[in-house]
Amino acid sequence: MDVYKIRGGNRLQGTIKVSGAKNSAVALIPASILANSPVTIEGLPEISDVLTLQSLLEEIGGIVNFHEGTMTIDPSEMIAMPLPNGDVKKLRASYYLMGAMLGKFKKAVIGLPGGCHLGPRPIDQHIKGFEALGAKVTNEHGAIYLRADELRGAKIYLDVVSVGATINIMLAAVLAKGQTIIENAAKEPEIIDVATLLTNMGAKIKGAGTNVIRIDGVDELHGTNHTIIPDRIEAGTFMIMAAVAGNGVIIDNVIPFHVEALTAKLREMGVNVVEGEEQIYIPKTDKLHAVDVKTLVYPGFPTDLQQPFSVLLTQAAGSSIITDTVYSARFKQIDELRRMNADGRVEGRSVILTGPTPLQAATVRATDLRAGAALVIAGLIAEGETEVQEIQHIERGYSSLIQKLRGIGADISKVPVPEKAAVNK
Ligand code: EPZ
Repeated sequence: MDVYKIRGGNRLQGTIKVSGAKNSAVALIPASILANSPVTIEGLPEISDVLTLQSLLEEIGGIVNFHEGTMTIDPSEMIAMPLPNGDVKKLRASYYLMGAMLGKFKKAVIGLPGGCHLGPRPIDQHIKGFEALGAKVTNEHGAIYLRADELRGAKIYLDVVSVGATINIMLAAVLAKGQTIIENAAKEPEIIDVATLLTNMGAKIKGAGTNVIRIDGVDELHGTNHTIIPDRIEAGTFMIMAAVAGNGVIIDNVIPFHVEALTAKLREMGVNVVEGEEQIYIPKTDKLHAVDVKTLVYPGFPTDLQQPFSVLLTQAAGSSIITDTVYSARFKQIDELRRMNADGRVEGRSVILTGPTPLQAATVRATDLRAGAALVIAGLIAEGETEVQEIQHIERGYSSLIQKLRGIGADISKVPVPEKAAVNK
């Protein structure tokens, strides 16, 4: 297996470039199924989730070319091939194939998704939307079967503000007959990005980015060119690294508006965050003050950043509480950080962190994508050489991480080690 070896202590300096948004990419690629001619998406991150979706689209007959961040998908020969097993299990976002294939073919068979284990992650709101549009949905042998004679617009109220359900219902509704209204919709920037692509394909969508989205069904959608938005979670991860280990770092290719909740919290901690048009500069920070954080749906503090942020709080003077209101079990990084001498205690949906506590290098395990990112940040500041195992989780969501971090002075490498060396499996 491959691991990251990180020697802590180097101060980070220079410019680090953010890639395209993973959580947009995994929806934009399935959305291309809905078109009747080629769709080109530029600026895609070169991560395993994108490669998995490429092979899934090829499996259903798509002709896909992916080179240096630009993917062209020709959906004209696609068929409603059942996908009950295999690659669909590798990522949670494979559920977008349900909305896209139901919308295009009026039927789909998709294996239940995989992805990070953050507590229960049902898809009941997705199914509620599909059924409201007229689909029959059953769960057979671990796969979701969807079929509809016809899809008709409906008014759908989401019981839970769900990014996935909002996007998936949009995908199923754009070719339905009549108007669909999604109420209590999620407002994440990735939803606006997907709505932008669909609109440029000929869809009629109003209100993306607000909690009410109106979709007027059309007969067909055509190909188009689209450039993805930057990844606000990757940008936030780098901002946190700069705050805890930087001597002056520029984060390039970021929309400051998308990371406002993190910026506000960093400023509360005493970090000077300088916002430019498409860059954020973070100078060396001498003293960090403890703060409390509550994760909320966008535009609140993103749950995806609470794990990296928890490392920063181990270095802040005083006690901090992080409460994750979105996921009930997203603190797996704390056990690993405690192995590095962090003072953290999980209590239900909260964790109490006390600092500043010097971290010590250890061999640790990435349990999920953002917990893995947190361990990389911890390794950058720990005394000694940290080994991070199970790095496949990290490489699902951060492209060219080694090169990017070395580019600002981090001492990090990816090396193979014998399987028997795995820790606390
Ligand atoms: C998206 O997941 C992101 N993934 C997640 O990022 C992110 O943490 C999450 O949104 C919240 O912002 C992608 O976009 C691929 P939700 P998603 O549906 O859509 C509950 C990362 O690190 N819920 O908004 O699956 C659910 O259990 C990943 O990049 C239902 O109850 O999240 C959760 O508690 C991790 N029923 C809450 O809603 C449903 O039908 C929010 O989930 C759907 C969701």
